[in-house]
Amino acid sequence: MTRSLSSEFLPPVKEKKNKPKNKHESPLILLELSKDLVELARIWHESKDNIAQNNFFDHVKVLRQGHPQFLSPFPSEITWTKALKPDTRRISRYLKKIFSSRIFSNFGPFHEELEKRLRTYLKVENLFLVNNATIGLMLALRFAYDKLRPKNPYIITTPFTFPATSHAVKFLSFDTAFADIDPHSLCLCPEAVENVIKKHGPPVAVIPVHVFGNVADLEAFESLRRKYGFFLIYDSAHAFGVEVNGKGIGSYGDFSVFSLHATKIFHTAEGGIVTFSDPAYAKDLGYLRSFGIKGVDTCFSLGINAKLSELNCALGLALWDKIEPAIKKRKQLYNIYAQEFSEVTYLHPVMRHLPAVRQNYGYATFLVSGHSFVTRDVLCDLLKKFNVIARKYFSPLLSDVPCYKYDLEKFKPVLKTAEDVSKKTITLPIYPDLNTGDIKKITQIVKYIFQASDIIKTSINNKALG
Ligand SMILES: Cc1ncc(COP(=O)(O)O)c(C=O)c1O
Repeated sequence: MTRSLSSEFLPPVKEKKNKPKNKHESPLILLELSKDLVELARIWHESKDNIAQNNFFDHVKVLRQGHPQFLSPFPSEITWTKALKPDTRRISRYLKKIFSSRIFSNFGPFHEELEKRLRTYLKVENLFLVNNATIGLMLALRFAYDKLRPKNPYIITTPFTFPATSHAVKFLSFDTAFADIDPHSLCLCPEAVENVIKKHGPPVAVIPVHVFGNVADLEAFESLRRKYGFFLIYDSAHAFGVEVNGKGIGSYGDFSVFSLHATKIFHTAEGGIVTFSDPAYAKDLGYLRSFGIKGVDTCFSLGINAKLSELNCALGLALWDKIEPAIKKRKQLYNIYAQEFSEVTYLHPVMRHLPAVRQNYGYATFLVSGHSFVTRDVLCDLLKKFNVIARKYFSPLLSDVPCYKYDLEKFKPVLKTAEDVSKKTITLPIYPDLNTGDIKKITQIVKYIFQASDIIKTSINNKALG
C-alpha cells in the first residue's frame, strides 16, 4: 500500500462512547476482522520466521479505534453479479403471442428474430442459437471430429476457465491436453499450444478462451491453425459484444461460442450462440443441433437436442434494449474500481485496454499480488464479513479436477502461470443495478483490509527484529 492507515480511514473516537447507530455499524466487525488478521499474522510469523508466537492483540488496538461509516457491512449481500431483468409488460406481450400461437420451440418466429438481431449486433455472417454454450462447444467439437476423424483425437485447451470448456471435450470422450496461459491476457498461450503439437501431433481442435473479455492472441492462433490444420474454436462465453478493429469477436476462428446464461451481460436465462466462418458449415451443424433431422421426421445423421425455446428467445428480445445501457453502466462502475485501486499496489487489473479492442466490462477481476500479506482467499473471506460476495474465478484449475487425471499423465502439461494466477484472481461485484456509491464503498473496504494488514505485518517485522 502506498498510504498508511491514516486518520482519514480511522478517526480517533473513544471506543465505548461511540455507540453504533444500527447493528450494521457495529465496531465488532472491526474486532472480528482484526482477529482474522491476527490469526493470519500468527500463521505467517510462525511459518516464515519460526519465532515463538507473539501476542498480536496489542496491534488490534490500532484497528479498534473507530468505525467509519464505510466500514459497516452492506445491509444485504452484494453478489458478484445479478441477472438483467426484463420489463414485465414487455415480456408479457411476448408471452401472450407464444400462448396464442402455441409455438414454444423448434425455430419459431422469436428464434428467427433473435438470430437475425444477433447477427447484426455481433457483426457476424453465420450464427446459430443453441440452448447453452456448453452444448455449443460440443457441437463445434463434434463437427470438427467428423471432418478430420484422426486415429487418436485430442483437444488442446486452457485449464484456467469455467468447467464447461474442458468438460465439453471430456464429455465427448476426447483426450484433453491442457496448455499454459499467457501471463498478460490470462488466455491460452499460443507457444505452449505449439509445444504440445510438436510432441503429440496436430489436435482435432484448439479451444482458446477469451477470459474475462480479454482477447486471446488471434493472429498467433490463426497462423497455428493454418500450419497444423486443426479447427480453431473460441470459447467466447465472456466476450459478448467484444470487438477487435471494428470486427465482432465471433468472426475469428472456425467457430466461436457465446453463452447467454443469466449471469452474462445479455441473456436468455439459459442459451448460447455458435458463430462459424464458413456458410457451408450450416448444413451439418444444423443436423447436429437438431437430432440429425431435416423436416419433420427424416433422420439423416447424428445430432442432439441443442434447440433454444421460444420462451428463452422471448426473454432475449424483451431484454434487447438493455444491452447497450448495461455495458455503459458496467464501464462506469468498472472505471471506479480501476481508479480507486490504481493506488493499491497489491491489486492489478486483469482487463486489458488495447486500442483496437472494444471491451464489454463483463467482469471486475483483479490479481492479488503475491507480496500481499492478505491472500486472495483471505480477502474473499474478509469481504464476506461486509456482505460483499466476491468470486474466486477460476479456482480450482480444471487440471486439478480428478476426471483429468488420465490426461495429466498422458500429456504431462507444465501449467506454471495458470497455477499461480488461479490462486490470485478475485472477481468483485459488477452489474448495472449497483451504483457508484456501492462500488466506492467496496473499494474502501478492500483498501482498509490491505492497510490493516500492512500495520500488522509491520508490527510483526518490528517485533521480529527487536
Ligand atoms: C468460459 C465459459 N465457457 C463456457 C461457459 C458455459 O456457458 P453455459 O452456461 O451457457 O453452458 C461458461 C459459463 O459461465 C464460461 O464462463
